[in-house]
Amino acid sequence: MRTDVIVVAAGSGQRAGEGLPKQYRSLGGVPVLRRTLAGFIGQPGIRNVLPVISPGHAELCDAALAGLDGVLAPVAGGATRQASVRAGLEALAQDPPELVLIHDAARPFVSARLVAEAIAMASAQGAAVPALALVDTIKAVAAPGFLATGPDRNALRGVQTPQAFRYAMIAAAHRAQAGADDLTDDAAVAEAAGHRVAAFAGDPANIKLTTPEDFVTAERRLLAGLA
Ligand code: C5P
Repeated sequence: MRTDVIVVAAGSGQRAGEGLPKQYRSLGGVPVLRRTLAGFIGQPGIRNVLPVISPGHAELCDAALAGLDGVLAPVAGGATRQASVRAGLEALAQDPPELVLIHDAARPFVSARLVAEAIAMASAQGAAVPALALVDTIKAVAAPGFLATGPDRNALRGVQTPQAFRYAMIAAAHRAQAGADDLTDDAAVAEAAGHRVAAFAGDPANIKLTTPEDFVTAERRLLAGLA
């Protein structure tokens, strides 16, 4: 199925420290966003790869992506992740794909296996996300500074991106949810619109860079030849 990829990179990216937004910081000598996009370019079944960026980062983006072939011209994102995804979906509406993969720029270690499985699962099920069993036990906040028993860990999963959907379905679901921009992933948008979302095996190496420590971990992985 004709498949496009939206990579959302329009966050401020400041929690990772060091001034430069995290999606433009260097990781093993390559800007994070460039590394993330390169993970999709030329993968079997992938047609277009579309970055969604903050209008204020246009120059940073130009520099980070200089000479990179196979990427559509970036489009401007919005004030929330959900608004940024919506902008990407609208930008693809002229020549819509059958499937769309939606991925966070902050996850530069996407593997060929994840891309292939996302496409296969969404082709079969309409919506599919990579999920991992949790290692930590989850508690609820009972009162400030106190915790109470949380849900059964065995019934929970941590979800990653790329999340994959039939384009027409997720575009309609995002339009229907516009204005209630507090959903933090696209599976939640699909579910809010009444769709079931299938899960496939996530990848522990597909980490999301959030804190300065995450960058240290990621550099170590690259040095060790693990990514
Ligand atoms: O902030 P967080 O790491 O959860 O953001 C997940 C992804 O969504 C990041 O790649 C970030 O750049 C993107 N994002 C966006 N537009 C926003 C906020 C976040 O594209 N307004």
